Amino acid sequence: MLEINPARLWQSLMDLAQIGATEKGGVRRLTLTDTDRRGRDQFVAWCKEAGMTVEVDGIGNIFGRRAGTEADALPVAMGSHLDSQPSGGKFDGAYGVMAGLEVVRTLNDAGIRTRAPIEVAAWTNEEGSRFVPTLMGSGVFAGVHPLTEVLNQKDVEGISVRDALNQIGYAGKALPHKLGAYFEAHIEQGPVLEQTKTTIGVVQGALGQRWFDVAITGQDSHAGPTPMETRKDALLAASRLVIEVNRIATAFPDYARGTVGFMQVEPNSRNVVPGEVRMTVDFRNAKDATLSAMVEELERNVVSIEKETRTEITLQEVVYFPPSEFAPDLVDSVREGSKKFGYSHRDIVSGAAHDAVYMARIAPTAMVFVPCEGGISHNEIENARPEDIAAGCNVLLHAVLGRAGSA
Ligand code: GLV
Ligand code: MN
Ligand code: MN
Repeated sequence: MLEINPARLWQSLMDLAQIGATEKGGVRRLTLTDTDRRGRDQFVAWCKEAGMTVEVDGIGNIFGRRAGTEADALPVAMGSHLDSQPSGGKFDGAYGVMAGLEVVRTLNDAGIRTRAPIEVAAWTNEEGSRFVPTLMGSGVFAGVHPLTEVLNQKDVEGISVRDALNQIGYAGKALPHKLGAYFEAHIEQGPVLEQTKTTIGVVQGALGQRWFDVAITGQDSHAGPTPMETRKDALLAASRLVIEVNRIATAFPDYARGTVGFMQVEPNSRNVVPGEVRMTVDFRNAKDATLSAMVEELERNVVSIEKETRTEITLQEVVYFPPSEFAPDLVDSVREGSKKFGYSHRDIVSGAAHDAVYMARIAPTAMVFVPCEGGISHNEIENARPEDIAAGCNVLLHAVLGRAGSA
C-alpha cells in the first residue's frame, strides 16, 4: 500500500519551525511579517523542487499545483496556513501545508499521475491575530469577504493588509478558481483524541463563531480622592464582562465556548481609575441558535454592567460564521482511509476555526485530525508524535488519491 515518507514530513515540519522559532520551542510567525515571508519563500521553493507550478492571488494565498492528466478536471486541493499565533506552536497550520507537500512528493516518488490536478494551498492570515477577520485568505477565495475590504483592515499599529502584503512581496494576481474537493490535515488542538487513545479524528464539521471588539468608556480619575460610588471604572466593567463571558459559555449547551483573549487598559497607570478598555469576545457553538442566544444573553448583561459601573460599552461584531458541516462522502473517505491502515479513529467536531470552514462553502470538504500532546495548542509547547503526524498524512494521501483518481 502506498505510504508517505514519515521522516521527510517530520523534517520539513522541523525545518519550517526554524523560521520564527522561539526560545520555548514554539513559533512566532505572525501573518504578513518578514518572518511569514521567509516561511512562504521556503514553501514556494519546496513546491518548485517538487515540480509544482506556483501562483499567488490578491490576498497572498499561495497555490502549488501538480498537473493532472485531464487538464480541465477541477483540482483536488489540500492545505492550511503558515501564519502562527504570537506564541504559537510548530504544528498548527504548518502540518496541513507540509502534509499536502508530502502527498505530492510521495506521488512523485511513486510515479503516480492523477486524473485531476492536485493543489497545495497556504492560506493567508488564518489566525486572525494580527488582522481581523480570521480565515482571511480562504474567506476572500471563497467570496465571503470582498478583497478590497480586507486589504483595508489594519493591525494595532495602523499598518494595512495591503501595505503588509506589498512589503513582503506576496500581493499576487491570480484570481479565485474552482476546486473539485478540499482536504485539510490539522492537529486536534484539544484533548479528545489523546484521552481516548485515538489516532485519527474524522472531522464532521466545526463550531460556529461570533467575535466582537468591545470598547468600554468610563472616566480617568485619581485613585485616592475619587469615591468608590462615583467612579466610572472601565476596567471594573471589563472584569464583570470577562466573568459573564465565562459564565455564559459554561451555562450554555452545544459545545459552548467563550473567551476574552485580548485587553488594553488606558491609561494603565497604577493610581489612575482606568477610563478606557478595549477587549475582545470570542463565542463558539455547535448550533447557530444557541450561539445567537449566547450573544443575546451577553447583550442583556452589558446593559446592566453599564448601569452598575456608570460606563458605556459598545460591542462591534467582527467575525461571524455559523457551524459548518463537511461533505459526507469525503468524510467517509477519511474514515475508510483510517480503516485501511488499521488506525484507531473516531468522529469529532472541531472547536477551532479552519480554512476548511470556508472551503466547505464552495467545494466538498473534509478534515483529518491527529492528536496533540495534552490537547495543548496556541502555545509554544504544542507538540505531536511523529507517528500520528505520519498517520494523518497517510489518510490524507489516500483520501486525495481516491478523489483525484489515478490516471
Ligand atoms: C483559529 O485558530 C481559531 O481561533 O479557531
Ligand atoms: Mn490552524
Ligand atoms: Mn491557530
